[in-house]
Amino acid sequence: MKIDKNSIKSSNKVNKTITIRPLTVKEAGFFIEIMNNYYDRKKNSEYFKWQYFSYPKSLYYGAFDKDKYLGGFGIQLQKLKYHDRKITIGKGLDIIIHPNFQKKGIGTLLTFAFEKWAKKNNADALIVLSNNNGRKFLSKKNYQNHMINQMEKKLKNNINKVNLQQFHSKIRQNKLFYFIKDKKWYTWRFIQNPEYKYRQIDLSNKLKVYVKLFKDPKTQESFGDIVDVGHAKNISLLKKAYVEAENYFKEKSVLSVTTWAFSNTRNYEILRRMGYVEMAKQRFLCVKVLNHEYNKLYNFGLWNLMQSDSEVY
Ligand SMILES: CC(C)(COP(=O)(O)OP(=O)(O)OC[C@H]1O[C@@H](n2cnc3c(N)ncnc32)[C@H](O)[C@@H]1OP(=O)(O)O)[C@@H](O)C(=O)NCCC(=O)NCCS
Repeated sequence: MKIDKNSIKSSNKVNKTITIRPLTVKEAGFFIEIMNNYYDRKKNSEYFKWQYFSYPKSLYYGAFDKDKYLGGFGIQLQKLKYHDRKITIGKGLDIIIHPNFQKKGIGTLLTFAFEKWAKKNNADALIVLSNNNGRKFLSKKNYQNHMINQMEKKLKNNINKVNLQQFHSKIRQNKLFYFIKDKKWYTWRFIQNPEYKYRQIDLSNKLKVYVKLFKDPKTQESFGDIVDVGHAKNISLLKKAYVEAENYFKEKSVLSVTTWAFSNTRNYEILRRMGYVEMAKQRFLCVKVLNHEYNKLYNFGLWNLMQSDSEVY
């Protein structure tokens, strides 16, 4: 079923047999079956409902050949702080095509539907936080990408010798791009999340720090993620956020802690000085700007991404 690329148009029905349409909440089974056959990380209908039918504005496009489900692509709208403006980003989530139908143009059709919907909703840019397959595929669709630094620190026998007081705010802190997270977003992302339990660490101010603790089911060893440290203007507050998160994990006898940071950012420099190193595991930020007023979004050193910006953590 090789689709003639010349016949691919950005309409919902691309030829006689392939249809692209949003899945209903009752059709979660299509999504779950294909995801769970492909990935070790299992999804269920609770996740589907939470991600695509609650908050923020989202949907999941499915591709069908008559009644046969071939794959799908989720999309979610979110506001991004871009210098002094708030702009709209369409975030692509959970793209997957059934292994028997990959490389036949189905993913391409889904990206057309994704982009069309995003434009209708006034998105200024599209992003996908992808794996390496997604990166290769999206680079063919005019997305630019940059590797996300996944940072790790082994906590066992690790004495934090760094005197953070000596480290003053010499590090260049341009106005970074970051997702705007209101109270409703925090509730949706961390309290209502059906997959993971998070813990909020209270700092004596507005900064919210979220961490996730998990145990390897086989070895029973504990690992931790610093999922979100917020966006402190004050550098010592940001340092405190990381130190407090680490102290929490030390109390829980965690073996190793991971988090995200882009190089050249303050967050990255703080983590490096605290003894975090880059992991080999690869993920990418893929960006396609729709409104060229915002072409600086291709300047990846200006993004401040948190693990919580991805659906995976
Ligand atoms: C990645 C994926 C969504 C792409 O969908 P698809 O239907 O296979 O892609 P298409 O057939 O529309 O491919 C469009 C182009 O991208 C290329 N491409 C697709 N997947 C690729 C891959 N893994 N590596 C390199 N190139 C790839 C195709 O060769 C094609 O190139 P061409 O235009 O030069 O012919 C699909 O292969 C998939 O589901 N993979 C497994 C799940 C996964 O890793 N998802 C990404 C999560 S971020």
